Amino acid sequence: MGLTLTFDVSERAHKTPRLTDSYAYRMDFNDRVRIAATTEWGVLTGLATLTQLGANGGIDVARVRDEPRFPWRGLMVDTVRHFISLATLRRTLDAMWFYKLNVLHLHLTDDQGFRLRSEAYPELASADSYSLQELSGLVSYAADRGVRVVPELDMPGHTTSWLAAHPEWAVAGSASVDGPSTRFGVHRVCLDPDNPAVMEAVTAILGELATVFPDEYVHFGGDEVAGLAADAQHRFHQAVVERLAVLGKRAIGWDECLSATLPTGTVVQAWRGAGARDAALAAGCDCVVSSPYYLDLFYPADVHYAADPGGDLVAAEKALVQHPRLRHVRDGLAWMARFAAFPDVPAGEEGRILGGEACLWSELVTDELVDTRLWSRMPAVAERLWRDVDPSRDLDGFYERLAATRSVLDRLGIVREDRASVDGNPGVQPLIEMLEPVKWYRRLLGTGEYERRINGLGGSADERPYDVLTPLDGIVDHLPPESLASRRAEVDLARGAPMDAWTKGWRSQRLALAGDRVLQAELGAASEALAALADVVDGKSATDPATLAGPFGEYLLPVAYAVRRQ
Ligand code: ACM
Repeated sequence: MGLTLTFDVSERAHKTPRLTDSYAYRMDFNDRVRIAATTEWGVLTGLATLTQLGANGGIDVARVRDEPRFPWRGLMVDTVRHFISLATLRRTLDAMWFYKLNVLHLHLTDDQGFRLRSEAYPELASADSYSLQELSGLVSYAADRGVRVVPELDMPGHTTSWLAAHPEWAVAGSASVDGPSTRFGVHRVCLDPDNPAVMEAVTAILGELATVFPDEYVHFGGDEVAGLAADAQHRFHQAVVERLAVLGKRAIGWDECLSATLPTGTVVQAWRGAGARDAALAAGCDCVVSSPYYLDLFYPADVHYAADPGGDLVAAEKALVQHPRLRHVRDGLAWMARFAAFPDVPAGEEGRILGGEACLWSELVTDELVDTRLWSRMPAVAERLWRDVDPSRDLDGFYERLAATRSVLDRLGIVREDRASVDGNPGVQPLIEMLEPVKWYRRLLGTGEYERRINGLGGSADERPYDVLTPLDGIVDHLPPESLASRRAEVDLARGAPMDAWTKGWRSQRLALAGDRVLQAELGAASEALAALADVVDGKSATDPATLAGPFGEYLLPVAYAVRRQ
């Protein structure tokens, strides 16, 4: 059946969306569908709902009235650690529209590269970078989907790539730089805030950004600054914010920028836990909450769904440490919680929570892997930011919606569903589909550094198993961060459903793996554990199932946590 659609917009259109614009809409279903909204962003949002409803097998409501809870519903994509193509960014914007997300934050510069082809300073640009014209095209593409684009120049730390071209811009004491870094982690390298050439370059590049990105906000980074005194760092932030103001822009920075000298009106992006959000609000700064929405940490969707930007984030952090799937990194999570110390900057008036922003840092993400990493969990953040949810009631429904909406995106060709598999050996699929990558920073740190850091013995980026040159083409790279098959098995276990169909595959995969020596070396331990788990489930073994969860190298077998001891 064809649909007749009519639209009704009551306000004059702007070319690009703004933070304060309405995304509310009303949709009536009679002999035709009528969408009424104040702005065209509201109409676009109504169309997203219509696409979701239609795909869910029909429309059985007469009327929808809908508006977002938060005005800032964002996603940050790190385009530096691995280059993310414009085609992938466009696909990402398509899916953002579908899930009613409205801010794409582009992390454009970092130690490993400079993805902006500045015309004033072309020598800074990495080989893989975006021209100003390409970025301008992306801004238009985003606006057509109701999405704002906020660019980030990360300064004064995370600037090895700048200093590779201009070593004279380094503050005294910076580590020597012989090219953009190939390593991950914090580098002891900083721009010199007292060098006039640095501020001249920063001003010129911000000016270029201001012409390309019409959004009111520009992100100046400010995170993980090593090797600069706190007062110099804050003086630098202040100077950058003032230059942005001259360009007619408002500033947003990571929460390290918070200080008594931060100009009022600066938005703080809280990434270091509940304390960062609360310190920013107490200082009178508006805040975008990111700490519970780090998609690079391989958490399952329910973790992100449980955290409310305006809620009790301390309780959410405590729940994280108790989450069964995160048991193998519990000591790492507890270790990180010790670092939360924030300046007390009292202000007359509390800041507001503008919303939230998920972050996809790309140390372990390539262009090809973006869809799998993002859309497995991002819908949980999107729903969280759109409406007030009660995870204790809504979570099962969320997982149903996740499956339904993912298959629509797949059918529309927007998101490429990645189903990890082994070519020519389908017999191992019952194993592959139960596996997840280990969580938190455990892959990035490697077992050695992980153990040493949390035991207070230090650690060094030099010993990490990954750098920008490490190929990300293994099974662990293609695994969705959350195994939905595992979740289905967990639901069956909880219901007391027959498990034979599961345990048959959990046993047979061992034989299928046996003939493949390479695969056996990588997955042998997990394979044995899954077969042993089948015996526990079938009452043939008294092994403690929790010992069968792993980790096995970089792999986890989370279903083991859901099996009751016989
Ligand atoms: C950050 O994750 N360094 C903002």
